[in-house]
Amino acid sequence: MSNFKKVIMVLTLLIGISSAIVVGSFLFMYKTGEITINFSKSKEDKILKEEELEIFSWWTGGGEAQGLEALFEIFNQKNSDMEIINAAISGGGGSSAKAVLKTRMLGGNPPDSFQVHGGSELIDTYVRAGVMEPITNLINELGIKDKFKQEILEMCSYQGEVYAIPLAVHRGNILWYNKSLLKKYNLKPPTNFSSFLSSLEELSKQGITPLSLGDKDRWPATHIFESLLLSTLGPKAYNGLWNGNTSFSNPKVKEALVRFNEILRYTNQDHAALSWQDSARRLYEGKAVFNIMGDWEEGYFKALGWEADQEFGWSNFPGTKGSFMVIVDSFGLPKEAANPESTKSWLKVIASREGQDVFNQIKGSIPSRIDVDKNKYDLYMKEAIDDFSNNILTPSIAHGSAAPENFMVALDDVINEFVSERNIERSFNNIQDIADKYLK
Ligand code: GAL
Repeated sequence: MSNFKKVIMVLTLLIGISSAIVVGSFLFMYKTGEITINFSKSKEDKILKEEELEIFSWWTGGGEAQGLEALFEIFNQKNSDMEIINAAISGGGGSSAKAVLKTRMLGGNPPDSFQVHGGSELIDTYVRAGVMEPITNLINELGIKDKFKQEILEMCSYQGEVYAIPLAVHRGNILWYNKSLLKKYNLKPPTNFSSFLSSLEELSKQGITPLSLGDKDRWPATHIFESLLLSTLGPKAYNGLWNGNTSFSNPKVKEALVRFNEILRYTNQDHAALSWQDSARRLYEGKAVFNIMGDWEEGYFKALGWEADQEFGWSNFPGTKGSFMVIVDSFGLPKEAANPESTKSWLKVIASREGQDVFNQIKGSIPSRIDVDKNKYDLYMKEAIDDFSNNILTPSIAHGSAAPENFMVALDDVINEFVSERNIERSFNNIQDIADKYLK
């Protein structure tokens, strides 16, 4: 064989191998569900899209994935000519999904609809960037404007227009526990911070992990911190943090760090390697007693086969009775959605009593509609529905409702550094710095 032929053969081989690697990685990403990314829509895609509806979320875990599936079923019954593409990207709290979504939205390649938190995440990140379409007409056409708690609808509105339909209301300030373990160690659910601390101390003497934590995805630590802030400040002063009435130099902000430092002594050592589901699972497996988490944990426990008030119990995060840390999961219409009419058919399911009932009973959240039949819900949710109508609502920082994304990300940094370094003074100063920088 001539040298020339040899060179051509080697080149052909190399090109073949590289193409196989590219196609192989593509297929792998497709299989793992990571393939929603960075493909700009060609004309052909858009024609295909008229039969498809791409729904983006991060609901891939126990409870949340089933809730989403149940919504898809209702949609399919009503729209048999359309196919749903489930573009969920795993990672609790949107730890991976949010960045992908932002790139797609701001790059003009949106999904047809996506899960988004009412409040700052929806309004500051997407509505003010001009990439969402108002859906006020749809709400008027359906005649449902007064069917939602108005504070929740406001979190989904901007300058008089509604931009997303609230599907679910989650509560963040909940302390979950394994009921049989609490009984075994002869403890009552704590009602204030000092009884919580003494229970933790007692459990650690018994040699079991008192408080399970999984902060691999960063936000679970901030999630605990915001409940602590609520406990030290109370709901009015906590809400004042977002309109300038409460300063971040308030000593009660520091007190929240002091309390955090105290409870961190009772957590599992491997917390930085665990997701929120892993930490909830420790309760299920009888390896830990308490866990602080939003009520998607209710949906998760039920997916594992536990029942509310049988195997697992709950109480308000100690010291936050009367407050409801609110996290609103909603869906809207991106301005550049391929087929707005199909998206509106999806939004009608989100807005319907049927859709809200089916989804929320599985997910652990309560419906944002106030005209649903409370009797359909389990004991935990019945209590949450009552508290939702009587309590003071406080928006979550960790889940993007209270403050703009740059503050939330900076707070995640400060709090995660705090969890590993436990330097109260420095973290207190850092919090004030980021508030000065991002909330002015
Ligand atoms: C929240 C979201 C919930 C749940 C949770 C854990 O941000 O609102 O619906 O999915 O994250 O992933």
